[in-house]
Amino acid sequence: MEAREPAPIVDLRSDTVTRPTPAMRRAMAEAEVGDDVYGEDPTVNRLQERAAEMFGRAAALFVPSGTMGNQAAIKVHTESGQEVICEERAHIFNYEMAAMAAFSGCLARPIRAEDGILTWDRIAPEVRARSEHRARTGLITLENTSNLAGGSVYPAAVADEICERARQAGLPVHLDGARIFNAAVALGRPVAELTRKFDSIMFCLSKGLGAPVGSMLVGSREFIAEARLVRKRLGGGMRQAGVLAAAALVALQETPPRLAIDHENARFLAAALAEFPGVRIDPRKVVTNILFCDVAETGLTAPEISRRLAEQGVRVSAFTATTLRLVTHYDVDRAGCERAVLAWRRALGVRPTTVIA
Ligand SMILES: Cc1ncc(COP(=O)(O)O)c(C=O)c1O
Repeated sequence: MEAREPAPIVDLRSDTVTRPTPAMRRAMAEAEVGDDVYGEDPTVNRLQERAAEMFGRAAALFVPSGTMGNQAAIKVHTESGQEVICEERAHIFNYEMAAMAAFSGCLARPIRAEDGILTWDRIAPEVRARSEHRARTGLITLENTSNLAGGSVYPAAVADEICERARQAGLPVHLDGARIFNAAVALGRPVAELTRKFDSIMFCLSKGLGAPVGSMLVGSREFIAEARLVRKRLGGGMRQAGVLAAAALVALQETPPRLAIDHENARFLAAALAEFPGVRIDPRKVVTNILFCDVAETGLTAPEISRRLAEQGVRVSAFTATTLRLVTHYDVDRAGCERAVLAWRRALGVRPTTVIA
């Protein structure tokens, strides 16, 4: 008998696991390159011009990672000894190695908000003016979509109001828009419109957009000129980075329109998981490509479920002892999601008749 190809792994741990498409690999092989620290890489320059154009801004900067983009922005906007307001689950606060403290000398002022969506009413009482007792607020940051709040999306009017009120208070606002293209697809609005009032924006090329490496900072010419210096100080000055920028240009061209498929797949998974006894998830809250579920009532821990799924070729992230995260992306199609549901059923020991998948 002929040996059968093993089924591919269904990797739902994150959208960072996407691999470059054949078109991206071709563009990488053929990229025109130069030394980008001298500003001489034509492909990086093209990428920066394209990103600035898509966001309706004066300038953009290619950075190796979203973390570096966020932290460079914090460094440019703040002074040592200030506070940075963010939502309690923000990536910049929880997953960036305390860089705002280590690198910019800033203290996070985290605020809990429903679904990770801050409003000016929640922010205003936490804004600290100059005082002899308390650190002054230097910056407000929002995250759209909010990763740890399950891919939730800022209503455009809510983000606009925060930016307007912050401007009146003399405060800059930075957007961690790692997944701003997912937000744009969910709202049916262009990224330029959703981000027009922010002082700076970071977005990731290597998550749902599928490029292998890199993120962008977008903003005014002055902001980007300063961020360029910070990038170099952080060791993020890259040389023939055009090979990476070439893939990113393909990603910007090809991927945004198909993110809607990832969102549909996430909704499909959420609806199926909600049927399993003991799995708590509200499918109405799944509006982009990220979903969290609570498995406390299944009698199994999240790491145990993750292990049982992995045995069947399905990978998910156990975030806490009782919560799991699943993220859809272009390397997992609907058939992969169906396999994942089947693997969940087996992992939980649920008989097929008791669920509608
Ligand atoms: C919301 C958010 N911001 C920033 C980042 C950082 O991106 P990177 O992993 O490229 O540093 C991530 C990564 O997962 C993220 O989810």
